[in-house]
Amino acid sequence: MSDKTYPPSAEFTATAHIDAAKYRELYAASIADPAAFWGEHGKRLDWIKPYTKVKNVSYAPGNISINWFEDGTLNAAANCIDRHLATRGDQTAIIFEPDDPAEEAQHITYTQLHKRVCRMANILEDMGVRKGDRVVIYLPMIPEAAYAMLACARIGAIHSIVFAGFSPDALGARINGCDAKVVITADEAPRGGRKTALKSNTDTALLHCKDTVKCLVVKRTGGQTTWIADRDYDYNELALEADEYCAPAEMGAEDPLFILYTSGSTGQPKGVVHTTGGYLAYAAMTHEYVFDYHQGDIFWCTADVGWVTGHSYIVYGPLANGATTLMFEGVPTWPDAGRFWAICEKHRVNQFYTAPTAIRALMAHGNAPVEKYDLGTLKLLGTVGEPINPEAWNWYNDVVGKGKCPIVDTWWQTETGGHLLTPLPGATPTKPGSATTPFFGVQPVVLDPHTGAEITSTEAEGVLCLKDSWPGQMRTVWGDHERFEKTYFSDYKGYYFSGDGCRRDADGYYWITGRVDDVINVSGHRMGTAEVESALVAHAKVAEAAVVGYPHPIKGQGIYAYVTLMNGIDPSDELRKELETWVRTEIGPIAKPDLLQWAPGLPKTRSGKIMRRILRKIAEDDFAALGDTSTLADPAVVDDLIENRMNRG
Ligand code: WTA
Repeated sequence: MSDKTYPPSAEFTATAHIDAAKYRELYAASIADPAAFWGEHGKRLDWIKPYTKVKNVSYAPGNISINWFEDGTLNAAANCIDRHLATRGDQTAIIFEPDDPAEEAQHITYTQLHKRVCRMANILEDMGVRKGDRVVIYLPMIPEAAYAMLACARIGAIHSIVFAGFSPDALGARINGCDAKVVITADEAPRGGRKTALKSNTDTALLHCKDTVKCLVVKRTGGQTTWIADRDYDYNELALEADEYCAPAEMGAEDPLFILYTSGSTGQPKGVVHTTGGYLAYAAMTHEYVFDYHQGDIFWCTADVGWVTGHSYIVYGPLANGATTLMFEGVPTWPDAGRFWAICEKHRVNQFYTAPTAIRALMAHGNAPVEKYDLGTLKLLGTVGEPINPEAWNWYNDVVGKGKCPIVDTWWQTETGGHLLTPLPGATPTKPGSATTPFFGVQPVVLDPHTGAEITSTEAEGVLCLKDSWPGQMRTVWGDHERFEKTYFSDYKGYYFSGDGCRRDADGYYWITGRVDDVINVSGHRMGTAEVESALVAHAKVAEAAVVGYPHPIKGQGIYAYVTLMNGIDPSDELRKELETWVRTEIGPIAKPDLLQWAPGLPKTRSGKIMRRILRKIAEDDFAALGDTSTLADPAVVDDLIENRMNRG
């Protein structure tokens, strides 16, 4: 950790939306009277029927209920498109940069966006989708992904995006999980010069779904696909015929806008539910202030729309603000490690937002690929997804930002809808590795993990919780409100529990220390160790499996699996490969174990509980701190695991 401080430059602060005095003033107001504060800031949206009630929240055990702007009505798509038409119909809303740099980029204006979203909305209605119905979106990073999201929002359908890297099994589970009527996919997804057969994955997934589920197919590459009449619909053909106007539905502020599945410490992923008014207001406000977005700026968030970062900061936040947002279909290292910077130069990007894992991967290629390009338009850099190590922060600052771009290290979660801890670039002195201080209305607290008591001294270390609500907060787990309460409100009563540990320094700055539960963060992607374990044990030759994270130089954390085979099955390199492939097909490539160790036995307590603490230490190659192993049923298994460990330092 580093405590070197970088104050905002006078030049940046001069034109920033928020300077230090304004931050103090607005933050104090947001805490003193949240209803008055958000009552004012909710007005950044266009309401069909204005709200009169701003906040109605209970964190009381047994009655977790979160409502913002509850009697107001609005339409999210109209806020992201229609209201901009009169003033900036000809302005580019979306710049699309395809995977292959030889393919031409597209500039989609707000007027074009309006027509295309309306057409897709009409197609969905013709396919039978109605207000409140669920639509699963399984698309590459192409403009049609944004059209699909906004088309759902326009007619009041609830979208659930499944990252295009997930397997047919994971897709099928999510289609069934929300009982979707339609799944929108593409023939193929080009990425890094390769193609993923999304339609064929969808065909496989649909074998395990109700036969009433329909499939809308975007032709991205024109690649060969199978076609089932009356189930599969050709988007490109239907769009030629579809009406280019569709009236936006009047939605309640608390009607769900989308579901997004995310991993937790136990069981299968859960469907995080975000609603219309609070989520959109919060995404838009954080986008404007945290990135100091000014009209005319070109904003680029490199995330995939399959993750919450893509929802809030490629689509909803930027478009609600009438911004120009860039969508990139490819990867940072193809055709070469200069691709990000080539795109920044080509499209004159002003704000650039990416993940520490990408920064570390690019840093490994040295400075030359960055220095080849003119990055003079960049004004601000952002990071998200995992703690950023000071080396990567400094490289980002010096080599990419040339020391003149403030860096916003934004801490937030799928559950929070938008940034919670983050610098405001014209106001907050930054420290490499710290997400600094709370956004307006956000009240972080550090609790003692053992007693649950709030640590009130400025310097503190413990678990990170939030006191009170903010408009972008998730409202429930789809179909399982009890799980919502159990996951987030039962360990520490009266607080929202983030699952992260943190340290607060003498300046009141927050430093995220990582997850305190069984969730690992691989390349900025959340992965439940339980999910990977249940995929492994579903294999006929596996008796038992335990999965933990270990430090990985590029990915942040890697996946370390301990596998016990069925009696009579011998370990082999072929079997190791078979299991890796198995996990890829059960979940997706992002879940493939980086290291897999054959474990004749796992360390267990006498009551049969696996001691993960010990497995974590072995994976970290750190045995000094193994702790007390005397309560183990068979202490000898630990020696074997250490002897045969994969991660030798
Ligand atoms: C981690 C991504 C440190 C954290 C928006 C959190 C971070 C989880 C940061 C959420 C950051 C996210 N510094 N850790 N700036 N941002 N995290 O739901 O552990 O995919 O709980 O949301 O990522 O991941 P999720």
